[in-house]
Order: sequence, then structure tokens, then C-alpha cells
Amino acid sequence: MQSACPRSEPLHVAIIMDGNGRWGLSQGLTRSHGHNAGADAVRRTVEAAPELGVTTLSLFAFASSNWARPTAEVSALMDLFRSYLTTDGPRLIESGARLSMIGRRDRLPPDLARAVTDLEAETRLNDRLNLRIALDYSSREAIMFAATRLGPAATLAELERLIVGDAGIGPVDLLIRTGGEQRLSDFMLWECAFAELWFTRRMWPDFDASDLSEAIADFQRRDRRFGGLVAA
Ligand code: IPE
Ligand code: IPE
Ligand code: MG
Repeated sequence: MQSACPRSEPLHVAIIMDGNGRWGLSQGLTRSHGHNAGADAVRRTVEAAPELGVTTLSLFAFASSNWARPTAEVSALMDLFRSYLTTDGPRLIESGARLSMIGRRDRLPPDLARAVTDLEAETRLNDRLNLRIALDYSSREAIMFAATRLGPAATLAELERLIVGDAGIGPVDLLIRTGGEQRLSDFMLWECAFAELWFTRRMWPDFDASDLSEAIADFQRRDRRFGGLVAA
């Protein structure tokens, strides 16, 4: 395995954190155990990311399509998000991470939405890592919202600004999906237009800094052309 070497340019990594439920069952436990173990993988990843040169980390935590799951699983996930913010809030503030949430807030439990807003305010001056958590997030809906709001005369730049939802956040450079599936599941479709994709069979609760390092090292060997030609 080759490790990543940090560079000075911005690096936006997005992760579809998949495989929690299967991991829980594979341990002879419940899907919820898998989600709880997934929170530890989030902690490891957030801690390792800046050291590996990641400047923006976007994590897919709950898709709008996930409301279709059984109520008990959805409630357990909302409880987990709430306890993550409470437990990890102080550490995020300390570590220099600036938290922002992408996705709809109006369908989240109100106290969870408030906890997110509070932590966004408390971390807004931090600049070591942009940590973006996608909750009740649908990329198609974000694109539709921006297009409807701006109308037919919108420029690409205006659309991009509204879809991405945060000034200064660039497109995704590297998209990682754990859990063995190779699909985007409505995550950051616009932002991933030129992203490098990296899939692993590793289930999210087993993901650690060495996996992130391996993905970034692989990314650094890719030849990104953006429609142009390879540099001589
Ligand atoms: C991803 O893990 C976490 C969420 C979708 C909230 P899954 O819950 O999708 O786990 P699998 O894919 O069923 O194993
Ligand atoms: C995508 O995983 C959503 C998150 C990781 C939060 P899913 O498990 O919901 O995706 P599908 O249903 O397998 O495409
Ligand atoms: Mg899944």
C-alpha cells in the first residue's frame, strides 16, 4: 500500500459511507450496531483527513431516500446524529473543523436541526477542515431547487453556487464509496462531474486512516484531463 503525501492545493473528498447495516449483521448484531460503529469510522476519518491534505470532507450520512427505511431504524439514526453532535461538537471546535450541513432541514427532528445550526455557528471561523455532513440529502432535489429558483436565464456559475450551497467549496476531487456497491445513489451528482471515483468492498465501520490514505494515493496517480489532453 502506498501512502498519500499531503499537498498544498485544496482537496475535496466526498464519501458515501455505506455498509453499516451489513457490518452489524455480520457481527451477529443488529443493523443499528453497525450504524454506531460507523460513527467511530467518521471520527477516525475526520481526524485523519487534514493530515492527508484534505481541505473539504463531504460525508453522506442520510439520504432523502433513506426515509423509506423502517421507522425504528430511522429513529435510531436520528438519535445517533444527535449524540454525535453532542459528543463530538467540542472536539470539532477544538480541531479546527468548520461544520456545515447540506440537505433539507425542515423534515429533521427540530432539536437535531437546532443542534446542527448551533454547531455551524460555533465552528464558523474554523479553517482547518470544511466538514460537510449530508442529512436528508438528495442531489437531484438540490439541482431542481437551484434551477427553479434561478430560472432559465441562470448562468452555470450561479447554478453551481446555489447547488453547492457554500461559497468557497470547490467541486469534488475524489469520491469514495465503501460497502462494495458501485453507484452514486443521488449524492453530489453535479459536484462529481469530474471527480475521480474510488470504490472499496470494505464496510464503512472498518474504514480507517490507512484506507483514506490509500484512496488519496491512488487519486494522486490518476491523470485528470477535464476534457483536455495529457500535459507533455
Ligand atoms: C449506510 O449504511 C448508512 C446509511 C444509509 C444511513 P447502510 O445502512 O446502507 O448499510 P447497508 O448498505 O444496508 O449494509
Ligand atoms: C447511500 O446508501 C446513502 C448513504 C450512505 C447515507 P444506501 O445504502 O441508502 O444506497 P443504496 O440504496 O444502496 O443505493
Ligand atoms: Mg447501504
